[in-house]
Amino acid sequence: MSNSRYTSSHTPVLLSETLKTLAVQPGGRYIDCTLGSAGHALSIMEHASPGGQLLGIDADPEAIDAARKKLKDYQETVLLVNDNFVNLQSICIKHDFFPVHGILLDLGLSSMQLEENRRGFSFQHDEPLDMRFNPAQKITAADIVNTSPEERLANIFYTYGEEIHSRRIAREIVNHRPLETTLQLAKLIEHAVGRRGKIHPATKTFQALRIAVNHELENLESVLKQAVELLGYEGRLVVISYHSLEDRIVKQFMQKESRGCICPPETPVCICQHSPSLRMINKKVIIPSAAEISQNPRSRSAKLRAAERIITPGDSYATTEDHTFLTLAKSGNWRKPALLEKIRTVFLAA
Ligand SMILES: C[S@@+](CC[C@H](N)C(=O)[O-])C[C@H]1O[C@@H](n2cnc3c(N)ncnc32)[C@H](O)[C@@H]1O
Repeated sequence: MSNSRYTSSHTPVLLSETLKTLAVQPGGRYIDCTLGSAGHALSIMEHASPGGQLLGIDADPEAIDAARKKLKDYQETVLLVNDNFVNLQSICIKHDFFPVHGILLDLGLSSMQLEENRRGFSFQHDEPLDMRFNPAQKITAADIVNTSPEERLANIFYTYGEEIHSRRIAREIVNHRPLETTLQLAKLIEHAVGRRGKIHPATKTFQALRIAVNHELENLESVLKQAVELLGYEGRLVVISYHSLEDRIVKQFMQKESRGCICPPETPVCICQHSPSLRMINKKVIIPSAAEISQNPRSRSAKLRAAERIITPGDSYATTEDHTFLTLAKSGNWRKPALLEKIRTVFLAA
Protein backbone atom coordinates (compact mmCIF):
# COMPACT_ATOMS: atom_id res chain seq x y z
CA MET A 1 0.00 0.00 0.00
CA SER A 2 1.37 3.44 -0.89
CA ASN A 3 1.27 6.21 1.68
CA SER A 4 -0.74 9.11 0.35
CA ARG A 5 1.14 12.40 0.36
CA TYR A 6 -2.07 14.28 -0.40
CA THR A 7 -2.73 16.83 2.30
CA SER A 8 -5.67 18.67 0.77
CA SER A 9 -8.89 17.23 -0.58
CA HIS A 10 -10.99 17.65 -3.69
CA THR A 11 -14.32 19.51 -3.55
CA PRO A 12 -16.90 17.22 -5.17
CA VAL A 13 -18.57 18.82 -8.20
CA LEU A 14 -22.38 18.86 -8.72
CA LEU A 15 -22.74 16.88 -5.48
CA SER A 16 -26.49 17.25 -4.82
CA GLU A 17 -27.26 16.77 -8.53
CA THR A 18 -25.16 13.57 -8.49
CA LEU A 19 -26.99 12.13 -5.47
CA LYS A 20 -30.33 13.01 -7.02
CA THR A 21 -29.66 11.55 -10.48
CA LEU A 22 -28.02 8.45 -8.97
CA ALA A 23 -31.22 8.13 -6.87
CA VAL A 24 -29.15 6.99 -3.89
CA GLN A 25 -31.27 4.99 -1.46
CA PRO A 26 -30.61 3.17 1.83
CA GLY A 27 -29.39 -0.37 1.27
CA GLY A 28 -28.27 0.38 -2.30
CA ARG A 29 -25.07 -0.86 -3.97
CA TYR A 30 -22.98 1.69 -5.82
CA ILE A 31 -19.75 1.89 -7.78
CA ASP A 32 -17.61 5.03 -7.86
CA CYS A 33 -15.21 4.44 -10.77
CA THR A 34 -13.23 7.64 -10.07
CA LEU A 35 -12.92 7.72 -6.30
CA GLY A 36 -10.46 10.65 -5.96
CA SER A 37 -10.57 11.79 -2.35
CA ALA A 38 -14.01 10.18 -1.91
CA GLY A 39 -16.02 13.41 -1.78
CA HIS A 40 -18.87 11.90 -3.81
CA ALA A 41 -18.32 8.45 -2.29
CA LEU A 42 -18.70 9.68 1.29
CA SER A 43 -22.01 11.38 0.50
CA ILE A 44 -23.21 8.30 -1.36
CA MET A 45 -22.47 6.16 1.71
CA GLU A 46 -24.18 8.66 4.03
CA HIS A 47 -27.34 8.47 1.90
CA ALA A 48 -27.10 4.70 1.28
CA SER A 49 -26.92 3.91 4.99
CA PRO A 50 -28.04 1.76 6.61
CA GLY A 51 -27.06 -1.25 4.58
CA GLY A 52 -25.45 0.55 1.62
CA GLN A 53 -22.37 -0.85 -0.13
CA LEU A 54 -19.78 0.86 -2.30
CA LEU A 55 -17.03 -0.32 -4.63
CA GLY A 56 -14.55 2.53 -5.16
CA ILE A 57 -11.96 2.42 -7.94
CA ASP A 58 -9.08 4.76 -8.74
CA ALA A 59 -6.00 4.31 -10.90
CA ASP A 60 -3.97 6.53 -8.57
CA PRO A 61 -2.76 4.59 -5.49
CA GLU A 62 -2.45 7.81 -3.48
CA ALA A 63 -6.11 8.60 -4.13
CA ILE A 64 -7.07 5.19 -2.75
CA ASP A 65 -5.13 5.90 0.45
CA ALA A 66 -6.68 9.35 0.85
CA ALA A 67 -10.16 7.89 0.23
CA ARG A 68 -9.60 5.06 2.70
CA LYS A 69 -9.04 7.62 5.47
CA LYS A 70 -12.14 9.58 4.49
CA LEU A 71 -14.34 6.46 4.40
CA LYS A 72 -13.02 4.96 7.64
CA ASP A 73 -16.50 4.90 9.24
CA TYR A 74 -17.69 2.60 6.45
CA GLN A 75 -14.79 0.10 6.35
CA GLU A 76 -17.15 -2.87 6.60
CA THR A 77 -19.24 -1.97 3.58
CA VAL A 78 -16.77 -0.21 1.30
CA LEU A 79 -14.35 -2.01 -0.98
CA LEU A 80 -11.51 0.07 -2.50
CA VAL A 81 -9.59 -1.12 -5.55
CA ASN A 82 -6.52 0.48 -7.11
CA ASP A 83 -7.07 -0.24 -10.79
CA ASN A 84 -8.10 1.35 -14.05
CA PHE A 85 -11.85 1.56 -14.61
CA VAL A 86 -11.29 0.03 -18.03
CA ASN A 87 -11.21 -3.25 -16.05
CA LEU A 88 -14.59 -2.55 -14.43
CA GLN A 89 -16.31 -5.81 -15.36
CA SER A 90 -13.47 -8.05 -14.28
CA ILE A 91 -13.14 -6.14 -10.97
CA CYS A 92 -16.87 -6.63 -10.32
CA ILE A 93 -16.77 -10.31 -11.22
CA LYS A 94 -13.73 -10.87 -9.01
CA HIS A 95 -15.45 -9.25 -6.02
CA ASP A 96 -18.96 -10.50 -6.84
CA PHE A 97 -20.14 -6.88 -6.89
CA PHE A 98 -23.05 -6.77 -9.35
CA PRO A 99 -25.72 -5.98 -10.30
CA VAL A 100 -25.69 -2.50 -8.78
CA HIS A 101 -28.11 0.37 -8.22
CA GLY A 102 -25.79 3.07 -9.52
CA ILE A 103 -22.44 3.78 -11.16
CA LEU A 104 -20.65 7.13 -11.05
CA LEU A 105 -17.85 8.43 -13.28
CA ASP A 106 -16.44 11.85 -12.34
CA LEU A 107 -13.81 12.09 -15.04
CA GLY A 108 -10.47 13.84 -15.23
CA LEU A 109 -8.16 14.97 -12.49
CA SER A 110 -8.55 15.70 -8.81
CA SER A 111 -7.34 18.96 -7.27
CA MET A 112 -4.66 16.98 -5.40
CA GLN A 113 -3.28 15.59 -8.67
CA LEU A 114 -3.10 19.09 -10.12
CA GLU A 115 -1.54 20.68 -7.06
CA GLU A 116 0.32 18.09 -5.06
CA ASN A 117 1.38 14.99 -6.84
CA ARG A 118 4.41 16.13 -8.87
CA ARG A 119 3.45 14.08 -11.90
CA GLY A 120 3.42 17.06 -14.23
CA PHE A 121 -0.33 17.47 -14.79
CA SER A 122 -0.03 21.23 -14.48
CA PHE A 123 2.50 23.75 -15.79
CA GLN A 124 1.95 25.97 -12.73
CA HIS A 125 4.84 24.05 -11.14
CA ASP A 126 8.07 22.78 -12.69
CA GLU A 127 7.69 19.00 -12.60
CA PRO A 128 8.76 15.97 -14.63
CA LEU A 129 6.68 15.38 -17.78
CA ASP A 130 4.93 12.29 -16.48
CA MET A 131 1.07 12.61 -16.45
CA ARG A 132 0.32 8.97 -15.59
CA PHE A 133 -2.66 8.46 -13.27
CA ASN A 134 -1.00 5.25 -12.17
CA PRO A 135 2.80 5.44 -11.77
CA ALA A 136 3.02 1.70 -12.50
CA GLN A 137 1.97 2.33 -16.09
CA LYS A 138 4.88 2.32 -18.58
CA ILE A 139 4.55 5.23 -21.00
CA THR A 140 4.95 8.79 -19.68
CA ALA A 141 4.31 12.14 -21.34
CA ALA A 142 8.09 12.56 -21.70
CA ASP A 143 8.25 9.28 -23.67
CA ILE A 144 5.58 10.52 -26.09
CA VAL A 145 7.09 14.01 -26.42
CA ASN A 146 10.66 12.77 -26.91
CA THR A 147 10.16 9.73 -29.14
CA SER A 148 7.05 10.26 -31.30
CA PRO A 149 7.42 11.31 -34.93
CA GLU A 150 6.41 14.94 -35.62
CA GLU A 151 3.23 13.91 -37.44
CA ARG A 152 2.02 11.74 -34.55
CA LEU A 153 2.61 14.59 -32.09
CA ALA A 154 0.65 16.99 -34.30
CA ASN A 155 -2.20 14.46 -34.53
CA ILE A 156 -2.30 14.02 -30.75
CA PHE A 157 -2.43 17.79 -30.16
CA TYR A 158 -5.11 18.28 -32.82
CA THR A 159 -7.30 15.29 -31.97
CA TYR A 160 -7.14 15.36 -28.17
CA GLY A 161 -6.57 19.09 -27.61
CA GLU A 162 -8.38 20.58 -30.62
CA GLU A 163 -5.19 22.70 -30.90
CA ILE A 164 -5.19 24.63 -34.18
CA HIS A 165 -1.41 25.27 -33.90
CA SER A 166 -0.73 21.53 -33.56
CA ARG A 167 1.73 21.34 -36.47
CA ARG A 168 3.76 24.33 -35.37
CA ILE A 169 3.98 23.05 -31.78
CA ALA A 170 4.97 19.55 -32.94
CA ARG A 171 7.72 20.96 -35.18
CA GLU A 172 9.09 23.13 -32.37
CA ILE A 173 9.15 20.15 -29.98
CA VAL A 174 10.99 17.95 -32.46
CA ASN A 175 13.57 20.72 -33.01
CA HIS A 176 14.23 21.19 -29.29
CA ARG A 177 13.93 17.78 -27.68
CA PRO A 178 14.65 16.14 -25.33
CA LEU A 179 12.25 18.02 -23.05
CA GLU A 180 12.02 16.78 -19.49
CA THR A 181 9.86 19.19 -17.49
CA THR A 182 6.48 20.89 -17.64
CA LEU A 183 7.96 24.39 -17.68
CA GLN A 184 10.35 23.55 -20.53
CA LEU A 185 7.39 22.39 -22.62
CA ALA A 186 5.08 25.26 -21.60
CA LYS A 187 7.74 27.89 -22.42
CA LEU A 188 8.53 26.28 -25.75
CA ILE A 189 4.83 26.36 -26.73
CA GLU A 190 4.47 29.96 -25.61
CA HIS A 191 7.52 30.87 -27.69
CA ALA A 192 6.14 28.97 -30.72
CA VAL A 193 2.60 30.36 -30.83
CA GLY A 194 2.75 33.55 -28.73
CA ARG A 195 0.35 34.55 -26.00
CA ARG A 196 -3.12 36.05 -26.50
CA GLY A 197 -5.84 36.37 -23.92
CA LYS A 198 -6.01 34.88 -20.44
CA ILE A 199 -5.63 31.20 -21.26
CA HIS A 200 -2.05 29.93 -21.41
CA PRO A 201 -1.18 28.72 -24.94
CA ALA A 202 0.07 25.36 -23.55
CA THR A 203 -3.31 24.44 -22.02
CA LYS A 204 -4.64 22.41 -24.96
CA THR A 205 -1.35 20.62 -25.58
CA PHE A 206 -1.18 19.55 -21.92
CA GLN A 207 -4.76 18.25 -22.05
CA ALA A 208 -3.96 16.33 -25.25
CA LEU A 209 -0.83 14.73 -23.79
CA ARG A 210 -2.67 13.65 -20.63
CA ILE A 211 -5.47 12.09 -22.70
CA ALA A 212 -2.91 10.24 -24.86
CA VAL A 213 -0.80 9.01 -21.90
CA ASN A 214 -3.83 7.60 -20.08
CA HIS A 215 -5.85 6.44 -23.13
CA GLU A 216 -8.67 8.44 -21.64
CA LEU A 217 -11.13 8.45 -24.54
CA GLU A 218 -10.74 4.75 -25.39
CA ASN A 219 -11.12 3.85 -21.71
CA LEU A 220 -14.24 5.99 -21.40
CA GLU A 221 -15.89 4.30 -24.39
CA SER A 222 -15.07 0.90 -22.95
CA VAL A 223 -16.24 1.60 -19.38
CA LEU A 224 -19.60 2.99 -20.50
CA LYS A 225 -20.43 -0.27 -22.28
CA GLN A 226 -19.29 -2.32 -19.29
CA ALA A 227 -21.26 -0.16 -16.84
CA VAL A 228 -24.58 -0.77 -18.62
CA GLU A 229 -24.12 -4.53 -18.23
CA LEU A 230 -23.52 -4.17 -14.49
CA LEU A 231 -26.61 -2.13 -13.69
CA GLY A 232 -29.67 -3.85 -12.32
CA TYR A 233 -33.13 -2.95 -13.58
CA GLU A 234 -33.61 0.82 -13.15
CA GLY A 235 -30.00 1.18 -11.99
CA ARG A 236 -28.50 4.59 -12.77
CA LEU A 237 -25.41 5.62 -14.71
CA VAL A 238 -24.14 9.14 -13.95
CA VAL A 239 -21.19 10.72 -15.75
CA ILE A 240 -19.57 14.09 -15.08
CA SER A 241 -17.20 15.23 -17.81
CA TYR A 242 -14.97 18.28 -18.11
CA HIS A 243 -14.27 18.81 -21.80
CA SER A 244 -16.14 18.51 -25.06
CA LEU A 245 -14.37 15.35 -26.28
CA GLU A 246 -15.47 13.40 -23.20
CA ASP A 247 -18.95 14.90 -23.13
CA ARG A 248 -19.52 14.02 -26.80
CA ILE A 249 -18.69 10.37 -26.13
CA VAL A 250 -21.05 10.24 -23.13
CA LYS A 251 -23.87 12.04 -24.94
CA GLN A 252 -23.64 9.90 -28.07
CA PHE A 253 -23.42 6.69 -26.03
CA MET A 254 -26.49 7.52 -23.93
CA GLN A 255 -28.47 8.68 -26.97
CA LYS A 256 -27.61 5.54 -28.92
CA GLU A 257 -28.39 3.19 -26.03
CA SER A 258 -31.74 4.93 -25.47
CA ARG A 259 -32.86 4.25 -29.03
CA GLY A 260 -34.36 1.18 -30.64
CA CYS A 261 -33.28 0.93 -34.26
CA ILE A 262 -29.91 2.56 -34.97
CA CYS A 263 -29.80 1.75 -38.70
CA PRO A 264 -28.76 4.67 -40.96
CA PRO A 265 -31.88 6.67 -41.99
CA GLU A 266 -31.59 5.51 -45.63
CA THR A 267 -31.97 1.81 -44.64
CA PRO A 268 -35.49 0.77 -45.80
CA VAL A 269 -35.96 -2.03 -43.23
CA CYS A 270 -34.31 -2.35 -39.82
CA ILE A 271 -31.36 -4.72 -39.92
CA CYS A 272 -29.59 -3.71 -36.70
CA GLN A 273 -32.02 -5.34 -34.25
CA HIS A 274 -30.75 -2.92 -31.64
CA SER A 275 -32.91 -2.59 -28.56
CA PRO A 276 -32.60 0.20 -25.99
CA SER A 277 -30.80 -0.55 -22.74
CA LEU A 278 -31.04 2.95 -21.23
CA ARG A 279 -33.56 5.71 -20.65
CA MET A 280 -32.17 9.23 -20.38
CA ILE A 281 -32.88 10.89 -17.02
CA ASN A 282 -31.99 14.43 -18.00
CA LYS A 283 -32.65 15.34 -21.63
CA LYS A 284 -30.73 18.57 -21.09
CA VAL A 285 -27.21 18.41 -19.72
CA ILE A 286 -26.83 19.48 -16.05
CA ILE A 287 -24.22 22.16 -15.33
CA PRO A 288 -23.09 23.84 -12.09
CA SER A 289 -24.94 26.90 -10.79
CA ALA A 290 -23.25 30.31 -10.74
CA ALA A 291 -22.96 29.91 -6.94
CA GLU A 292 -21.10 26.60 -7.25
CA ILE A 293 -18.75 28.03 -9.90
CA SER A 294 -17.91 31.01 -7.71
CA GLN A 295 -17.19 28.74 -4.72
CA ASN A 296 -15.32 26.16 -6.77
CA PRO A 297 -14.04 27.61 -10.07
CA ARG A 298 -12.76 24.15 -11.12
CA SER A 299 -16.38 23.09 -11.55
CA ARG A 300 -16.98 25.59 -14.35
CA SER A 301 -16.63 23.18 -17.27
CA ALA A 302 -18.52 20.26 -15.64
CA LYS A 303 -21.38 18.57 -17.49
CA LEU A 304 -23.50 15.85 -15.91
CA ARG A 305 -25.48 13.29 -17.90
CA ALA A 306 -27.51 10.47 -16.39
CA ALA A 307 -29.45 7.49 -17.65
CA GLU A 308 -31.40 4.58 -16.19
CA ARG A 309 -31.08 0.90 -17.10
CA ILE A 310 -34.08 -0.60 -18.78
CA ILE A 311 -34.53 -4.15 -19.91
CA THR A 312 -36.30 -5.00 -23.16
CA PRO A 313 -37.00 -8.40 -24.70
CA GLY A 314 -34.17 -8.05 -27.24
CA ASP A 315 -31.67 -7.08 -24.54
CA SER A 316 -28.26 -8.70 -24.78
CA TYR A 317 -28.67 -10.46 -21.44
CA ALA A 318 -32.44 -10.56 -20.96
CA THR A 319 -33.13 -13.44 -23.30
CA THR A 320 -36.83 -14.03 -23.81
CA GLU A 321 -36.69 -17.67 -22.76
CA ASP A 322 -35.35 -16.64 -19.38
CA HIS A 323 -38.39 -15.41 -17.53
CA THR A 324 -36.78 -15.89 -14.14
CA PHE A 325 -34.18 -13.31 -15.01
CA LEU A 326 -36.67 -10.60 -15.91
CA THR A 327 -38.91 -11.37 -12.97
CA LEU A 328 -36.05 -11.26 -10.51
CA ALA A 329 -34.59 -8.14 -12.05
CA LYS A 330 -37.93 -6.34 -11.97
CA SER A 331 -38.65 -7.40 -8.40
CA GLY A 332 -35.39 -5.71 -7.39
CA ASN A 333 -34.30 -8.94 -5.72
CA TRP A 334 -30.87 -8.74 -7.27
CA ARG A 335 -28.80 -10.77 -4.91
CA LYS A 336 -30.55 -14.06 -5.69
CA PRO A 337 -27.82 -16.55 -6.66
CA ALA A 338 -29.73 -17.60 -9.80
CA LEU A 339 -29.64 -14.07 -11.13
CA LEU A 340 -25.99 -13.55 -10.29
CA GLU A 341 -25.17 -16.83 -11.98
CA LYS A 342 -27.11 -15.84 -15.08
CA ILE A 343 -25.31 -12.51 -15.38
CA ARG A 344 -21.92 -14.12 -14.74
CA THR A 345 -22.53 -16.67 -17.49
CA VAL A 346 -23.39 -13.92 -19.92
CA PHE A 347 -20.25 -11.93 -19.02
CA LEU A 348 -17.97 -14.92 -19.40
CA ALA A 349 -19.53 -15.92 -22.70
CA ALA A 350 -19.17 -12.39 -24.13
C1 LIG B 1 -12.21 14.38 -10.68
S1 LIG B 1 -11.38 13.18 -9.75
C2 LIG B 1 -12.67 12.44 -8.80
C3 LIG B 1 -12.97 13.19 -7.55
C4 LIG B 1 -14.00 12.50 -6.67
N1 LIG B 1 -15.28 12.39 -7.31
C5 LIG B 1 -14.14 13.21 -5.34
O1 LIG B 1 -15.22 13.70 -5.04
O2 LIG B 1 -13.15 13.28 -4.58
C6 LIG B 1 -11.05 11.93 -10.92
C7 LIG B 1 -10.31 10.72 -10.37
O3 LIG B 1 -10.45 9.69 -11.34
C8 LIG B 1 -9.25 8.99 -11.43
N2 LIG B 1 -9.22 8.39 -12.77
C9 LIG B 1 -9.18 9.02 -13.96
N3 LIG B 1 -9.18 8.13 -14.95
C10 LIG B 1 -9.23 6.90 -14.38
C11 LIG B 1 -9.28 5.57 -14.89
N4 LIG B 1 -9.26 5.32 -16.21
N5 LIG B 1 -9.38 4.55 -14.02
C12 LIG B 1 -9.42 4.79 -12.68
N6 LIG B 1 -9.35 6.02 -12.14
C13 LIG B 1 -9.27 7.07 -12.98
C14 LIG B 1 -8.16 10.01 -11.20
O4 LIG B 1 -7.00 9.38 -10.72
C15 LIG B 1 -8.82 10.92 -10.16
O5 LIG B 1 -8.47 10.55 -8.86
